Amino acid sequence: MLKNQINGINIYHFEELASTNRHAMAADAAHLDVILADRQSSGRGRLGRSFFSPDGGLYMSVVLEPENILCGLPFCTAAAAVATRDALMSFGIKGLSVKWVNDLLLDGRKVCGILTEAKTELGNISRVVVGIGINLKSIEFPEELRERAGAVGFEGDRLALAAEIAKRLSQYIGLDRCEIARAYEKSLTRLGERAEITDYADGQRRISGVLLGVDENCFLRLRLDDGTVRTLSSGEILSF
Ligand code: BTN
Repeated sequence: MLKNQINGINIYHFEELASTNRHAMAADAAHLDVILADRQSSGRGRLGRSFFSPDGGLYMSVVLEPENILCGLPFCTAAAAVATRDALMSFGIKGLSVKWVNDLLLDGRKVCGILTEAKTELGNISRVVVGIGINLKSIEFPEELRERAGAVGFEGDRLALAAEIAKRLSQYIGLDRCEIARAYEKSLTRLGERAEITDYADGQRRISGVLLGVDENCFLRLRLDDGTVRTLSSGEILSF
């Protein structure tokens, strides 16, 4: 492990970890410290899925102390999505958008996933870990990902990118919820278009409608065929 400091952000850099999120949960680490690995052997994704994490990507977890998250925990993922997009843009990567809830897309392909997890002690949240996995370079994806996954084409300094993401994340989590929701909505992909979505809050029911944006909670707003507007707190966009 190598410890680096970039623009005031501590980065603990490992060649390989099972999962940077898992490590960050247990590590002796402070607010905004970053755990970064060149590859993960058991990268974790949303909904208990695995996250393909070979060499050539950026796998990082940012440790957050709950008392420093002024916007509240449910906004961490949205804040991380816009922070990561902004940071990549500051390194010259154009054309990124956010697919609700937690994916970044480029040319319609997923290039980044975000997984926020919380550690609880005696019933209280003691630490939040925001995990971000970015496909930096084009690689041979496994068959099941080949149609949907892509890469951002980043050739620069990965540690500098990680520090920039952490810095921007710290700025976003200091904002109020409405400001985050507004920034998040602005970055959303394919607003005004039809999408098919699994609604996790409604027994995984599939619904389709036109994507309108998000409300002040970053819940997705969808116009159904009968003209009513439905708000989804958690789910997954399956197709456009
Ligand atoms: C998803 O798309 O389902 C979320 C993927 C999150 C992957 C990142 S990679 C760094 C961090 N460590 C993990 O084990 N997962 C997150």
